[in-house]
Amino acid sequence: MKFVKFVSAAAVAAALVSAPLAASAEGFDSQIKARQGQMNLLALNLGILGGMARGNIDFDADLAQSAADDLVAVSTLSPMTVWPEGSAEGTGSSETIWSNNADFLEKWGALNPAAVALAAVASTDAASIGAALGGVGATCGGCHKAHRVEQ
Ligand code: HEC
Repeated sequence: MKFVKFVSAAAVAAALVSAPLAASAEGFDSQIKARQGQMNLLALNLGILGGMARGNIDFDADLAQSAADDLVAVSTLSPMTVWPEGSAEGTGSSETIWSNNADFLEKWGALNPAAVALAAVASTDAASIGAALGGVGATCGGCHKAHRVEQ
């Protein structure tokens, strides 16, 4: 799977009027917002499950299952649409996402089975969530270490 080079109409228009382009991923606002939104959804749901595992949030089987199911749902989204090449500047995305795309896709692919394993036990009890949570957290950390930069 390869990323398609993507030039938005807005970026082309800006170049045509030769307006000085700001030092940010000009024209990629919606993609950047969308991928950061996906990440924030992951963080929200992982936070709920982590809170239950630690006993900071009362265990609630339905809420736990919803949170875990949403982790699975986000993990099935394609990274291609929200990480177009050229959209790193000024964001938390590293250029390695494109220069080492196979590794990035592999790390994205690792999230799904870990989330599915968590979803399989999420409605059981807090201890079961705790046992499966580390697997998911490792996939977040693994990708962030390799492909995320300070904003
Ligand atoms: C395959 C790579 C990958 C995986 C897996 C991944 N992330 Fe990320 N994450 C990124 C990248 C890249 C960014 C920077 C996005 C940007 O700003 O362009 C990011 C940014 C974030 C942010 C900041 C979003 C913002 O508003 O700027 C949060 C929060 C986050 N990730 C949480 C998570 C959690 C929680 C998980 C696991 C459940 C996870 N991520 C899994 C690559 C990944």
